[in-house]
Formats: sequence, C-alpha cells, structure tokens
Amino acid sequence: MQFTLQYQAPVSADALLVPVAQQPEMDAVFSQISEKTGIPASLISTDFKAESKEVHTLYFTENQQSKRIFLLGLGKKPRSIDIINAFRSFVFKRKAGLPANVAVSFLHSNAPENPAGWVEAAVNGMLLGGYDIGLYKTEKKNGNPTPDAGARIAIFVTKEHESAVQAAIEKGKATAGTQLEIFTLVNAPANKKTPQTLAQWAQDSGKKYGYRVQVFEKKEIEKHGFHALLAVNRGSEAPPTFIVMEYIPEGKKPLKKIGLVGKGVTFDTGGLSIKPSANMHYMKTDMGGAAAVLGTMELVAKLQLPFHVVGIVPATENSVDAKSIRPGDVIGSYNGKTIEVIDTDAEGRLILADGLTYIVRNFKPDILINLATLTGSTIRALGSYAGGLFSNNDELAGQLLKACEKTGERLWQLPLWDDYAKELKSDVADIKNFSGNPSAGAITAAKFLEAFIEKHPAWAHMDIAGVAVGDSEFSSQKSATGFGIRLLVEYLESLIPSNPA
Ligand code: BES
Ligand code: MN
Ligand code: ZN
Repeated sequence: MQFTLQYQAPVSADALLVPVAQQPEMDAVFSQISEKTGIPASLISTDFKAESKEVHTLYFTENQQSKRIFLLGLGKKPRSIDIINAFRSFVFKRKAGLPANVAVSFLHSNAPENPAGWVEAAVNGMLLGGYDIGLYKTEKKNGNPTPDAGARIAIFVTKEHESAVQAAIEKGKATAGTQLEIFTLVNAPANKKTPQTLAQWAQDSGKKYGYRVQVFEKKEIEKHGFHALLAVNRGSEAPPTFIVMEYIPEGKKPLKKIGLVGKGVTFDTGGLSIKPSANMHYMKTDMGGAAAVLGTMELVAKLQLPFHVVGIVPATENSVDAKSIRPGDVIGSYNGKTIEVIDTDAEGRLILADGLTYIVRNFKPDILINLATLTGSTIRALGSYAGGLFSNNDELAGQLLKACEKTGERLWQLPLWDDYAKELKSDVADIKNFSGNPSAGAITAAKFLEAFIEKHPAWAHMDIAGVAVGDSEFSSQKSATGFGIRLLVEYLESLIPSNPA
C-alpha cells in the first residue's frame, strides 16, 4: 500500500473513507456529506451513530460515475488505538471488495484542526489490516487475499499542516511495518521459531536499519557464565542465544542511555513442572517481551530517535527432557547468586536475571526497562486490558503511565514492597524462584527480578502476559498484539525536550 497526499476533495476517488468521531459536532460532517451525495443529512444522522468500528456505506453518482462513501465510526473521544483499530478492522474485512482508487478524507471528517495524529493512526491501522495470519495455508481464500502492495491510498488534508501530515504518514508506515514483522514472529509456531530465529531476525533488522547486533551462541554463553539461561535451556534440543543490540544515533549526542531486556522463551512447556495441556499452545508466544524489545530497537532505528538504546534478549525454549532442571535443583547465575528452582515453570525470571545483570554491569544504562510474559498472576489480576507495571522510580513510572495513556497500550502499577521478598528466601541457596504460594505471584516475580538489577535506581518491569496476545479480527485464537513497541517509542519521544508529552 502506498499513501499520497492531496489537498482538495478528489473527483477521481471511487471510494471515500471518512473517519467520524462520535461528538455533538457531527452535523457539520453530515451536511458536507449530504452536499456531495445529495442524501439528506437527517437520514445519515439517523442511520449512522459513529459508534466505534461502525461502518455506513453511501452510494451516489458524481460526474456520471458511481461512487461510494464509507463513514467510519470511531466512538467517543477516540484515542490513537481506537483509530488504529477502526481502520485496521475496516481494511481487514473489506480489502477484497475495495476499489483500486480509495481516498481517506480528513477534510470531510471531524478530525482535529491539525489531523496529523489521526493520519498517523489511520495509516498505521490500514497497513495492519493487510495482515494475514494464514502463513501456512496451502490455498489462499478469496476473503483473505494478501494486500496489493501497489495499492494507492490518497489522504486528503488541508495544505496548512502538510509537513506534519507527511511526517505522520511516514511514522504510521514505519510503525506498522515493524508491527507486522513482529506479529509474524510472535505468531510463528515453535517448530518454526527457535532462539536462533530470534537472533537471525535481530541481525537482519540491524543490517537493514543500521544498528549493531551481536549474538552470543552457546559457547560464548557458557564462557560469559549465563548459568540461569543455560539451566533453563538444558531440556531443549535447540541451543540458547543471547542477543545484544545497540543503536547509537548518528551525528547527535544521545539524550540518555536506555537499556531494554525482553524474555525470549520460544516455547514454555513449564519444564518438569509441566503445564496443563489446555492452553499450552499459546506458549509459543512466550517471547512477547523479546518481540517488544526487537520491535522497539527496529523502530527507534527507523525513526532515528536521539537515544543510545541497548536491547538484550536471552532466548531459549523451556522443555522436558532427562536433562531438564528439576524442582529443587540449585543453579548459578551471571550475577553470581545461587538460585533454588522450586518450580521449573518460573523460567522467565531466571533468564531475565542473567539479562538484567549483564546489561547493568556492561552498559550502565540510565534507564532500565524489561518486558516479559512473566506470570499468569498478572492475567488473573488485570485480565487482557492492562499489563502490570513495577518500578522503583516514581518519575519513570509516571512517564511510562503517561505514554500508556497516549498509545492506549495500558499498564497498571503494582507495588514492590519488600515484605513480598521474604517469600523468596531459600534455605539452601541465595534466593528461590518461587515462594510456593500463588498469591501475589506477579509481585513476587518482580521482587525476584529486582534481586538481579544490582540496585539500579531507575528500573521498570512490565509483565505483559495478558496483553502480548489478544482477540482480533485476524483469527479465532488470540494472536500477537505487538504490545510495548508503540508504548516505548512514545515514552522515548516524550523525553525529547521539544516534544513535551
Ligand atoms: N510464561 C508463563 C506465564 C504466562 C502464563 C504467560 C499464561 C502467558 C499466559 C510463565 O513462565 C509461567 O509459567 N509462570 C508461572 C509462574 C509460577 C510457576 C510461579 C505462572 O504464572 O503460573
Ligand atoms: Mn513458565
Ligand atoms: Zn514462561
């Protein structure tokens, strides 16, 4: 799909897509549409309420040609995520029947005076609407064609905000491009996605967008002493990888050094503390935190943000084998602390422990953020509507929550009080990976991670178990959301002095 800008209502478009927010001033929109189509505004306003994702089609002739207008409802006070989702769902459902010549009009719409925010969301959403989850189908169905790469979509806006809108189109495209790649990666089944696959993805992306990628293979992982990662990997056929990505902005002094760590478990059986079978297939997405870090690295590089960003992904499968670690085993860690493994299904915190200590000791980031599909406990607390946020730094937490507000990728803060750490005291080792008590599991998991950040003063942990996958029009099963990428980029942009939040 390609996007072009135009500054007046077109004569040529065969279909005009008009996004409409549900607000009192909708009448102005309807009278403009009425003028164009000859349909009485009162009828339009009776039939179309601009509910979220409501689509109303109007047919008319213009210069003896048959034309369509799609009114696209956005609901009340639409946030960027609502606009993305409305456009995404429209394109996904209608792409088979859309004429070649489509335009999106922000002239007829009740978009804000400067429509750049809406344009970015619309472009982002339309491109995501082209996603096809049926990668392994041998036959493509009519209703689900791959999108026409050459399709042209005109965007109508006033000339006044030209440069802001042009930049918005570019950002929408950049974001969607990375999100689509990440959808494919997260939704890939574990027999097509090993730790090596994640490493290869990073290497390809780094080459394409100009950031450094270094992959530690098993030998180097042993040499560095990532004992917790090696312990989790023991039961799997595929060796682990430890991916180090580094983006340094060109020609500008970085504002800050940001460290990101993502959980890259390519499949989580639970290990010997094996999971029940009912939802185990979703554990191919247990690398959702890694995906967020990979995607953020790529998008930061595409957008050339003025930050030094380091991304770390420890990657492994958590599998069952005679060689697997057992409940009760005591393992080491990169940190040097010994860990008693009470439950082999609490593996994410083990590999993150190595990633966190490594990044703090070797890169000394100003800000440290990790993302992980870490606990079922977070899902029980917050469902699929928000991830859990933990932070030892109120300013950082506040900035992240503000970015959540803007992007619609929600987090809700939970406490890190030291009382919870008592539950992780081990009789035989420095710490244990599970208290044995399922209550407050999200918080005790966060306390475990905290033991490996070397007292870093500005750390945030996002438990995204409930939000890394979600329901969508793409599939009957839950599938990848790309959670974290827009959020982290928004957070970084909010730190740029000329971009107050
Ligand atoms: N990957 C899971 C967490 C998870 C559960 C993610 C459901 C997405 C959906 C994690 O490795 C895990 O198994 N956590 C255990 C920890 C427990 C054994 C302390 C959990 O939450 O049950
Ligand atoms: Mn697990
Ligand atoms: Zn896991």
